[in-house]
Amino acid sequence: MLDIQTTDAAIPATDPATIRREDYRPPDWFIPEIELDFQLGLERTVVRSKLDVRRSKSAKYDAPLILNGDDLLPVNVLVDGKKWNEWKLEEGNLTLPLTGAAHIVEIEVELDPSTNTQLMGLYGSNGMLCTQCEAEGFRRITFFADRPDVLSRYKVRMEGDKQAFPILLCNGDKVEEGEAEGGRHWAQWNDPWPKPSYLFALVAGDLVANSDSFTTRSGKEVELNIWVRDGDLPRTGHAMQALKDSMRWDEEVYGREYDLGLFNIVAVSDFNMGAMENKGLNVFNSRYILADPEVATDADFDGIEGVVAHEYFHNWSGNRVTCRDWFQLSLKEGFTVFRDQSFSADMSSAALKRIEDVRILRAAQFPEDAGPLAHPIRPESYQEISNFYTATVYNKGAEIIRMMHSMMGAENFRKGTDLYFDRHDGEAATCEDFVVSMEDGGGIDLTQFRVWYRTPGTPRVSAKLSHNPQTGTATLELKQSIAAGGAKPGPSEMVIPLRTALLNPETGEHDGEQLLILDKAEQSFTFEGQNDHPVLSINRGFSAPIILENSRTAEELAFLSSHDDDPFARFEAMQQLMTGYLTAQITGTPADRDIILQAIGAVLADENIDRAFLAEIILLPTEAFLGDQMVEVDPQAIHDAREKLRGKIGVQFERKFRRLYKQCVPGEFSLSAEARADRKLRNVTLGYIAASQVEDAAEIAYDQYCDANNMTAMQGALGVLSHLDAEERGHAFESFYTRFKDNALVLDKWFTMQAMSQRSDTIKRVDALSRHPDFTLANPNRVRALYGAFAGNQVRFHDPSGRGYAMIADMVIALDPQNPQTAARFIPQLGRWRRYERGRSELMRLALEKIAATSNLSKDVAEQVSKSLA
Ligand code: PHE
Ligand code: ZN
Repeated sequence: MLDIQTTDAAIPATDPATIRREDYRPPDWFIPEIELDFQLGLERTVVRSKLDVRRSKSAKYDAPLILNGDDLLPVNVLVDGKKWNEWKLEEGNLTLPLTGAAHIVEIEVELDPSTNTQLMGLYGSNGMLCTQCEAEGFRRITFFADRPDVLSRYKVRMEGDKQAFPILLCNGDKVEEGEAEGGRHWAQWNDPWPKPSYLFALVAGDLVANSDSFTTRSGKEVELNIWVRDGDLPRTGHAMQALKDSMRWDEEVYGREYDLGLFNIVAVSDFNMGAMENKGLNVFNSRYILADPEVATDADFDGIEGVVAHEYFHNWSGNRVTCRDWFQLSLKEGFTVFRDQSFSADMSSAALKRIEDVRILRAAQFPEDAGPLAHPIRPESYQEISNFYTATVYNKGAEIIRMMHSMMGAENFRKGTDLYFDRHDGEAATCEDFVVSMEDGGGIDLTQFRVWYRTPGTPRVSAKLSHNPQTGTATLELKQSIAAGGAKPGPSEMVIPLRTALLNPETGEHDGEQLLILDKAEQSFTFEGQNDHPVLSINRGFSAPIILENSRTAEELAFLSSHDDDPFARFEAMQQLMTGYLTAQITGTPADRDIILQAIGAVLADENIDRAFLAEIILLPTEAFLGDQMVEVDPQAIHDAREKLRGKIGVQFERKFRRLYKQCVPGEFSLSAEARADRKLRNVTLGYIAASQVEDAAEIAYDQYCDANNMTAMQGALGVLSHLDAEERGHAFESFYTRFKDNALVLDKWFTMQAMSQRSDTIKRVDALSRHPDFTLANPNRVRALYGAFAGNQVRFHDPSGRGYAMIADMVIALDPQNPQTAARFIPQLGRWRRYERGRSELMRLALEKIAATSNLSKDVAEQVSKSLA
């Protein structure tokens, strides 16, 4: 997802490479049936396709058949059984000037999967062959109408060496298999469900399965397999449980049943994204499958549960009903993220899950909305679609669906989704189709709500509560404005559902929450029967993805942080309190610190508080979040102010933290909520004990590292040690390396924790690690582990020398020719250059210019860089 060049080289709006939503035209040709034959080899794979092509009734009589291709040459083309030479190759695409209404087209191509470093199309990974087709990878396998509104029934024969590829997998059901000459074997797979080419997948390799089964509510038995490499089998249990839980949940909550007799998952170590929902054959980045307590943190376990569910849920929201074109991506992604978030909330703590969802939204999506790459959840144009797999399309998209859910209520929401699945089953639909189904099925008017689909930027809402003691009324005045990309906000009329309660200022009680719908630029709401000036609790549960411009006093926020009965609002009040103080400190404005200490003291003294929630609420806002609140970001000033407050909190409550730390001593490992809460609180208190700069901090952390029987504790200890100068730091990192060097996923953590260190030698260390024998640009997880973590390390990436920026720019330039998708993902960090103080801003821009000046940049990187410099 990213890219470059010089400022004046910004691609003009008329650039032919820009694809626009308004230019959508239905296909001229449909391909209802396709047969594929793969002769598999790591260095040479021959693909023969047989397409049943039908001219659309609405197409011109002479519209040629145009089949997309990327880096392909046709070895052989037959039309209706006869050799045909009238094809042309234009920009990689195969044009066939056919004259009839229906033809059989046969094409043969040859691929070399071993040279496919982009990891799109057919590629080799650890001796295995696998595919990735979304969004436009199928055209790297064979010539085809590679667009999501062309749905075909697939019949696939795959043949390969039996020893190299004992397991042959594809979509649908395996209908036949057999031996072939020369130590080869084959399998025939048919998928009864018509699908777009982006959902095609094939895997061939030496794999073993964790096998299980699931009986659907109508009594059909489904065979489940999670395929991994031999030694990884013991780490597949959590993913299998998550799969079965997801299948049950989708039946219960959405009435959706699985529709094949077989569901396969394959774990792959070289993968650009998290996972992929190919029909009946999900392909996963191994980090979202493999876990046991020794190698995976509690967060890793949660990630697995969420991603397994996400891909499974796509079987309905994405596969049975797919997208008409890529502008509709949020139709499947926003909805499916909402579904996986709801599932995870139901599986554990809804409150903590919501805090986590909002944390991600604020860390990844708000900055996108505020920067040069801002786009609506349904974009209007793109150059490279891979760049639009964004937090906006996914996570903000999920927030838009969540708002519909809040406004409609669960029951009507379900009526809407039932109608949507019913109406559009087997079709390629649009976001508009979804909204219309929700209106028709759920009985709601979403006319004005649709604005969310086309408006980039995060709405800002100001809320002012006044009180009239004479009449006993409280009046809430709301105003909204919006801007994207850092422009000045102007008035807006979005539909913003705000869950609101007015709390009694003494007791914190209230007589019920209300859902206020703000849908005008300015609006006021009156509340009767308010004898005392109430305290405003608003946007509870983060009911709308907005920025609340706070007019509440520090006292009110402190009150909410110990009294609000909505856990998100309680957490949020503390965050706002801390944020207000820190932003004041950073800009040199006086602010009261004692009130924060009192508020923290109050939650620490709260006997009834949930320990996991306690661990969340005492965390300071991140440096990145604080930066997002500033007019001009100075990462060093932010870091200093935040560390100072952290140290003060550590000193103030040292005894309490030490006591909690001891109370959270882990017993036998368990994934129970209590055990997880203890692990979390233990790590958070360890962080504060270290922040107070006591002499024994390194020793405590080192002991935790040595005694740990799980990765959460180990990582917590290493995280603390990573910032220290103590010799324990070196020992722990060495021991960790020796113990885990053969486990790629754990070794990723070793790279990450060093890249996240706040020590002043971190840049040097990252540079050295980039030459470590275990580092490689060929594996996206490893690249993200080192450089992704470093680019998120605010104080070190933003070193005033600009060396951090240069390092990322050089890496992007080196990676782009191999893997443009992953390279492009690093541009947004530099793309925020306008937000920083002058010195850094200029250096960030220069780093972008350097990338821009590189020849032969990919479309991915070029688009992101030119937009960032424009
Ligand atoms: N569609 C995948 C998902 O969200 C993400 C993905 C996109 C994977 C593109 C690979 C390539 O589940
Ligand atoms: Zn998805």
